[in-house]
Amino acid sequence: MPVVDVHTHLLPPELPRWKERFGYGGFVHLEHLGPCRARMLRDDGQPFREVEENLWSPAARIAECDRAGVDVQVLSTVPVMFSYWAKPEDGAEVARFLNDHLASVVAGAPQRFLGLGTLPMQAPALAVRELERCVKTLGLSGVQIGSHVNDWNLSDPALFEVFAAASELGAAVFVHPWDMMGEARMQRYWLPWLVGMPAEVSLAICSVIFGGVLERLPALRIGFAHGGGAFPGTLGRIQHGFESRPDLVAVDSPVPPRAYLGRFWVDSLVHDPDMLRLIVKLFGEDRVMLGSDYPFPLGESEPGALIRSVPELAATHERLLGENALRWLGRPC
Ligand code: CO
Repeated sequence: MPVVDVHTHLLPPELPRWKERFGYGGFVHLEHLGPCRARMLRDDGQPFREVEENLWSPAARIAECDRAGVDVQVLSTVPVMFSYWAKPEDGAEVARFLNDHLASVVAGAPQRFLGLGTLPMQAPALAVRELERCVKTLGLSGVQIGSHVNDWNLSDPALFEVFAAASELGAAVFVHPWDMMGEARMQRYWLPWLVGMPAEVSLAICSVIFGGVLERLPALRIGFAHGGGAFPGTLGRIQHGFESRPDLVAVDSPVPPRAYLGRFWVDSLVHDPDMLRLIVKLFGEDRVMLGSDYPFPLGESEPGALIRSVPELAATHERLLGENALRWLGRPC
């Protein structure tokens, strides 16, 4: 059984100056500092992150995968590229550019890479069109979307047609935190990444549960980053809230949150063996998948090390390290 890492990010080596093309700013581009290093810059000149060639070089990635024992990386863009705030047709152009590049990398090494596209979620009809192109034309396994889309949570009726199309097409959907809530009060201590991201993932899971998305689309294969973020640690509170104030919580779906455990997937990126045990217990031995957040510093530097470090899970290692991911992606095992 191959080792499959479902949570890895890829950028093209060059990004267009979309500010010049579209006439307004907010986009990110890459400024190369040498053959192996670059800086991601917002087009107002603010640095976002320094990156290395393993973000864009397939050869560098494959060499690192070989050292780490990873057979397949599932590629997705860096969430700062979602650009949901852009005008719909511009967001669609950004998505097409990123998806064409990502698909070309997959096509260059189809034994080593699978791909999740990105969609202009701010325009659901355009998102459905791009989703169809990702699956039918580009051969991608699904898409990565944000934990919310501007003012819409994932429960918003406007987004339902995208989930319905993914379900119909058999496309996997990976939900990644981005544009973190409360950033104004999280200026210090890297709090958007440490507090905001886990809250965003819990917000996304609660939204698809309470909004009835999972109820209405039983075949939808949806997965969430970072082990489900704050959701598993606060599930008792969420369930109790549903039972004690159904007038507030059960307004769109009558089904309690615990009923959906086992219906969706999460990655294994929790950095703690007890939390890994908990998410396997809660979500199921067939619902947790290796995810490393390669190549970023909050990720698992040796992908799969946490899973392999938990002896009680030895009987499920093959599933956690690869089989569950292939089933989620709809690929043969
Ligand atoms: Co990530």
